[in-house]
Amino acid sequence: MARIPEKFIDDLLDRVDIVEVIDRRVKLRKSGKNFSACCPFHDEKTPSFSVNPEKQFFYCFGCGAGGNAIGFVMDYERMEFPEAIESLAQTCGLEVPREEARPGEKPAQDSNRPLLEQLEQAARFYEHGLRHHEQASRAVAYLKSRGLSGEIARQFRVGFAPPGWDNLLTTLGNQETPQRLLMTGGMLVKNDKNRVYDRFRDRIMFPILDARGRVIAFGGRVLGDDKPKYLNSPETPVFQKSRELYGLYQARKSERSLERIVVVEGYMDVIALAQFGITYAVATLGTATSEAHLERLFRHVPEVVFCFDGDEAGRKAAFRALEATLPAMEDGRQARFLFLAEGEDPDTVVRDKGREHLEHLFDTATPLETFLFTRLAEGIDTGTLDGKARFAKMAAPFLSQLPEGVFKALMYQALAERTGIDIDSLKRLQTPPPEVIASIAAHREDTSRERPTAESSQYPRGEEPPSDRDEDGPPAWLTKAAGDSDNTLQHADETLIPSSRNPVHRLLGLLVLNPKLAERVEANTLPEADRHDLALLSDFITRVQAQPDISTAALLGFWYGTPQGNLLTELAGREPLEDNAGQAELFEALLTRVTHEEALSILRARNAELKAKNYESMTADEKQELLDTTRRIRALTGKA
Ligand code: UTP
Ligand code: MN
Repeated sequence: MARIPEKFIDDLLDRVDIVEVIDRRVKLRKSGKNFSACCPFHDEKTPSFSVNPEKQFFYCFGCGAGGNAIGFVMDYERMEFPEAIESLAQTCGLEVPREEARPGEKPAQDSNRPLLEQLEQAARFYEHGLRHHEQASRAVAYLKSRGLSGEIARQFRVGFAPPGWDNLLTTLGNQETPQRLLMTGGMLVKNDKNRVYDRFRDRIMFPILDARGRVIAFGGRVLGDDKPKYLNSPETPVFQKSRELYGLYQARKSERSLERIVVVEGYMDVIALAQFGITYAVATLGTATSEAHLERLFRHVPEVVFCFDGDEAGRKAAFRALEATLPAMEDGRQARFLFLAEGEDPDTVVRDKGREHLEHLFDTATPLETFLFTRLAEGIDTGTLDGKARFAKMAAPFLSQLPEGVFKALMYQALAERTGIDIDSLKRLQTPPPEVIASIAAHREDTSRERPTAESSQYPRGEEPPSDRDEDGPPAWLTKAAGDSDNTLQHADETLIPSSRNPVHRLLGLLVLNPKLAERVEANTLPEADRHDLALLSDFITRVQAQPDISTAALLGFWYGTPQGNLLTELAGREPLEDNAGQAELFEALLTRVTHEEALSILRARNAELKAKNYESMTADEKQELLDTTRRIRALTGKA
């Protein structure tokens, strides 16, 4: 297909003014250097949509939508990329040139729109199944037995995947393109023998929507007691489990002004609570609560209540949630933890005891500070001097994760009072000693509530059991070298989830807004590692160095619609927009950190991996690598 030359796209972005483009569709109001409006991509009463004329990009603090003028037109007008270009070119009287793709050249980045469209079709297919399939009565009876009304089922777009291996396949996936998209979207699975079949069979289907209400994935529950109870979509280009929240879209739609969000564990909990009028519950998707979740939640509400089972697994999951919450605890925000009695979940409690009872439990749930201190004091006799010292060592590293502010100061003060150790000394305890790291790791161990979801037994004779698995990578702390006190060496996929503690992300944020900063990076000084964020940083810098005048808008356009692009817009949205004086210095400092510390932690991890092997059985290359990494670690740490 003829493609649009990149040069033309850059020119076009130079000519159009994003403020005009948007203002023609959504009335903008000036606010400081920027313009703002109520976001056209989600319902809201107070404006969190902002347009930056200088950098020519838009960003919504509410739903995370963002991009350049082309992206806006695509999203707003629901156009494909070439269409949006045509439309913008027309408004400034330009003709769109076309060129043949050179052989072997990578096609331009596709947008996710066709995939989202297919997933929407799938959701409709399942909704239709719940009303019209010959076996629908079983599904309806099941939902009734769980007390769901038709009204609430419609609201959450609950559906039914009929029994059989190829219902979706034959209905939507007959043609090559839709079949490929359904495969990418995780709806179809291919086994070792290249046989394609439906992932979801004979299940109640819960579509998972993104912040704008688009279907991005599904959870499917068996009707009876078969295993696995729930099957979820795998990670796809439009679905990152560790950042999505089931029910967030509906919560924001139904509550005029959300003041609190309750995080529960299951799909059915969200729906049951909504049915009883508690329309502000969301669920994580079988994964531990992440920093990305918290960043999202606190953008909408000042208070988050976590609701967990009262058993040890629940307390561990809660502690993991607490850890993810600490960096987000800016002043004015509150997090609480509610533990239900063993064997109960919000679904059963609201049915047995009613809405008011449960809401009272939310009101009086344990505040974060109490939970943190009580949990850490477990097993320590804080009446003794030694116990106080140990308690302080345990707690200080957690407090250091809090953002600067009154809350942090109060927490240090509380710790000082409990331990008799002065605040300055507590602050110096920031890096935990090895035994503390070990015990923190033990706390974290096994806290992911991801259920084993590989399908088991009951396959018709002669059928191949599916070979796909629905699982995430190892938790971050497992992939971390022992004694590595820093939080940046994470599993590759996690590195695309925005984190303000990750120096690579800070660098990216600064770079998007000020591409010129890339001039300060010398070639080949970045550490090499199998990490998406580092790869992105290095691609980003190469791109700017090849084209020093490239604009923020053009750069965002290049990664538009990819996980990398989403990360960049989100990071850009977080950096202060004014070019402050210290920016270059900050950039340099972060760069040194990444080139030194990051390189060091990567080297250390690899070095430890090699050391763990039996020296005799190592290949010559591995032995050489062991020598090299040891040497480079010494060089970086200044030990001869
Ligand atoms: P629960 O087993 O607590 O589910 O798992 P639930 O919502 O109470 O289920 P019901 O009431 O029996 O229908 C909580 C969450 O953990 C994930 C799902 O996201 C589920 O909602 N999970 C659970 C899985 O991913 N796979 C499973 O096999 C089980
Ligand atoms: Mn339940």
